[in-house]
Amino acid sequence: DRYQLWGGCFEEEPSAVLQRLNDSLAVDARLFREDIEGSRAWAAEQYRSGHLSENDNNAIQEGLNKVEKDIEEEMIKSGRLSDPEEDIHSVVERRLFKYAGDAALRLHTARSRNDQSATDTRLWMLGNLPKMHATVKELITVLVNRASREINIIAPGYTHLQRAQPVRWSHFLLSHAWALYDDVNRLKEQKSRLSRCPLGSGAIAGCALSIDRERLATSLGFEDLTPNSMFAVSSRDHLVEFFNWASLCGLHLSRLAEDLIIYSSQEFGIVRFSDQFSTGSSLMPQKRNPDGLELIRGAAGLLLGDAFAFSCVIKGLPSTYNKDLQSDKELLFRSYDRLLDCLKVAVGTIATMEVNSERALSCLDPGMLATDLAHALVRRGVPFRRAHHFVGEALRRASTLSVDLKNLPYQEFHKICPEFGTKEELQSIFSWETSVEQYTSLGGTARAAVTHQLDTLKAWLGQP
Ligand code: ARG
Repeated sequence: DRYQLWGGCFEEEPSAVLQRLNDSLAVDARLFREDIEGSRAWAAEQYRSGHLSENDNNAIQEGLNKVEKDIEEEMIKSGRLSDPEEDIHSVVERRLFKYAGDAALRLHTARSRNDQSATDTRLWMLGNLPKMHATVKELITVLVNRASREINIIAPGYTHLQRAQPVRWSHFLLSHAWALYDDVNRLKEQKSRLSRCPLGSGAIAGCALSIDRERLATSLGFEDLTPNSMFAVSSRDHLVEFFNWASLCGLHLSRLAEDLIIYSSQEFGIVRFSDQFSTGSSLMPQKRNPDGLELIRGAAGLLLGDAFAFSCVIKGLPSTYNKDLQSDKELLFRSYDRLLDCLKVAVGTIATMEVNSERALSCLDPGMLATDLAHALVRRGVPFRRAHHFVGEALRRASTLSVDLKNLPYQEFHKICPEFGTKEELQSIFSWETSVEQYTSLGGTARAAVTHQLDTLKAWLGQP
């Protein structure tokens, strides 16, 4: 038989189809620890405030410990609970009755599933976001370690996917690390709003029994408490913030994935993924496909979809608790699991890939030094706009003569603009190393500027 938390005034059971739509146990069973933790704190606060006897409190505390152990075992064994109840709150209360008897019937005094479920979800997020945080940091660490080792590699840099300028490979890797660095900080910034305890808000109006909500919040490890009971049971802003955070992090992973997918194609051949992070084709024996990175790229779309889906659920809701809000957990767990797996796959893929520095060099062409040539003219006093134009003319001339910029005869340069300097000065421009080493200003691709980035990130990561 189903243990129902309500139904005194009902003559009939809800229809089977409504039960199926309404039941949330398949999803919220995952909150069993938080639900039990919340109940322990609630009973303890009732006891401290004189609303629950010591005996009843003890029975509840001991009973909850047993219930937790039982559920833990079942969840480990089968990954789900087969109880007939509608949600985790009903399951815990029914199971508690088995161990604590009538004391269990006092647990829900002055509490509602509205403040209970809101509390459980916040506790779950507080408990699980650190893992997300740590995994983003792990990805940053992998990028930083590679960047540290591979600072000598010079690679093509693209804008519009067209050859732009040579850059240090490390500079490219760190460009992704910095986006993730912002993600870590952004996630931290959300914590103060998340870490507010809604318990004691009841269904809507607050708690009719005198309790100390500050003491209660502190006992659950919250930094603060929700300041208004109607706000407390309405607000899912911390979830909206998380979904939007996850979407942005997903977009960063998508960009990283797409770059590496391109670099792994045979046409580029700059990176090669390990067996562990590649997949094959059922038909074409030669294939090594970057499925992991493609799934990451796709996941960014799914994360955006979930963020949008949840905002759509909230839009138009009246104040306080409405059952629409129940979908928050399904989306939360789905987005959380998806993003965490994507981060781990990114960590593994990048930690184990090979970088082919010769292929990276062979993707460069002298045309990518046209900007440097213009800067050389600027150093000799030519206004930049004019210098840009002169180099453009040289490129056009080279194209007419079917040579690259490096092999355009010296006289041709000289004809366009005498400020191109001597033949030797001109030739000295055509070095990848010289090119990247000009960019010494902070944030640039010269060794010193990249090392500065590495030092900053390593200090932040707590690396020596
Ligand atoms: N399963 C519900 C949820 O997660 C719990 C709150 C139910 N409250 C209610 N009044 N029906 O949102």
